[in-house]
Amino acid sequence: MWGILKTLYTFSVFRYVKNMKHTHHIAGLSEETMQAHVEGLREYVEALHVAMRDNAYTSHESVLFTPFDTRVLEGVRTLVAPFVEKVKKVLVVGIGGSDLGARAVYEALAVGEKERVELFFFETVDPRTLQKAQTLFSECVEASEVVLVVVSKSGTTSETLVNAEQIFTHFAKRFGKEQATKQTIVISDAQSPLFARAQEAGMMRISFPSVIGGRYSVFTAVGLVPLALAGFSVESFCKGAQDTLTKMFAEEMPHVVYDASFLYEAYKEGFVLHELFFFHPELETVGKWYRQLFAESLGKKNREGETIGFVPTVILGSTDLHSVGQAIFGGAKNRITTLVSAPNVWENTPPHTSDTPFTIPALVGKPAGKLMQAIYSGVRETYQDHNLPASEVVLSALNEENLGAFFVEHIAQVMLLGVLFGVNAFDQPDVEQYKEATKRMLA
Ligand code: PA5
Repeated sequence: MWGILKTLYTFSVFRYVKNMKHTHHIAGLSEETMQAHVEGLREYVEALHVAMRDNAYTSHESVLFTPFDTRVLEGVRTLVAPFVEKVKKVLVVGIGGSDLGARAVYEALAVGEKERVELFFFETVDPRTLQKAQTLFSECVEASEVVLVVVSKSGTTSETLVNAEQIFTHFAKRFGKEQATKQTIVISDAQSPLFARAQEAGMMRISFPSVIGGRYSVFTAVGLVPLALAGFSVESFCKGAQDTLTKMFAEEMPHVVYDASFLYEAYKEGFVLHELFFFHPELETVGKWYRQLFAESLGKKNREGETIGFVPTVILGSTDLHSVGQAIFGGAKNRITTLVSAPNVWENTPPHTSDTPFTIPALVGKPAGKLMQAIYSGVRETYQDHNLPASEVVLSALNEENLGAFFVEHIAQVMLLGVLFGVNAFDQPDVEQYKEATKRMLA
């Protein structure tokens, strides 16, 4: 298998996507193989282009219209307007696709910011985390300082309902039920039982199109409401996605088709582990968002009934090099890696000094981030030396716009991979099975 891949090492793509430089520096695939995939995807690419303008949301692919939907942005701005002046803490209750997008952006961008409205995420049910919610309420002087956001598309996810019930109870105990109700927003499918109950209770609520699944919903109210409450520019976030899609479909054959074909070929050659290697710890949850997108969309039975799909993993540089680096470079050659970095973060750091017992002479006078730059280059070189398949995403900066671009690019990529793998990228039948089993146990 490895031999075949080596002989195929002829194809390479080098390109800039908006502020995202994405390179396949050792993608060893023959042009003929890639071209065959590209041709096979031509019709679907046309369907995606149509879906990008589908303001009636007639297919799952219409997710590509979500960043363009000004009705959503207006709805979100109107919804959050009464809260933004006074809010200091937002408690978001949701799990999987219902919170990972907002959480990823928040953690990537809020790091070190003291003035930012704080977001707290409640995913699985954990007594100590719930205790934290109680403490958060007790620290607030007025109810208007807190907003509780409950997100569940189905409105039936047990963890979300239990957390919401517990946290709402703490909220009501601290400020009274009426105040707690006024300060709670429910985001769900308009047809869900939760949406109906929120309406009965007189809570603020906002829905999103039924065809948009949880992991695809970051540009709907699901991602935008918590981010707008936290003071992020949701307009820039959507603009990053809009510009990326517009450019993508202006190409005769969008580059993302080549990216997907590259990944698919690597999978067929035995590179079944897809590793996202982030060189900024604050991007870990972006990795988890991507991991979910890959895992839930592709890890299933294909048309022939075969179970397939990448095993997606997330690692952080340079920390994890000291724990799994050996296996990556010297172990089984079954992983394909995407290196993600934003080098300008490293440039804006104070210079190293010469007068401490810890000083590394080669770094004196250079920005503190110089070491990370050197590690990144060293890692990149080691991938190449070991002939390990890898691609690279280089972001010009960490901001809303670039994250929007990153997210939408990978949404498009995973839909194309769904076609190549012959799977339905929009369902998650086996997750539903565990949810059903849980309900049975409870009954
Ligand atoms: O992407 C998905 O569909 C899932 O990860 C869901 O978002 C997750 O299971 C939560 O479901 P719900 O939003 O219905 O509470």
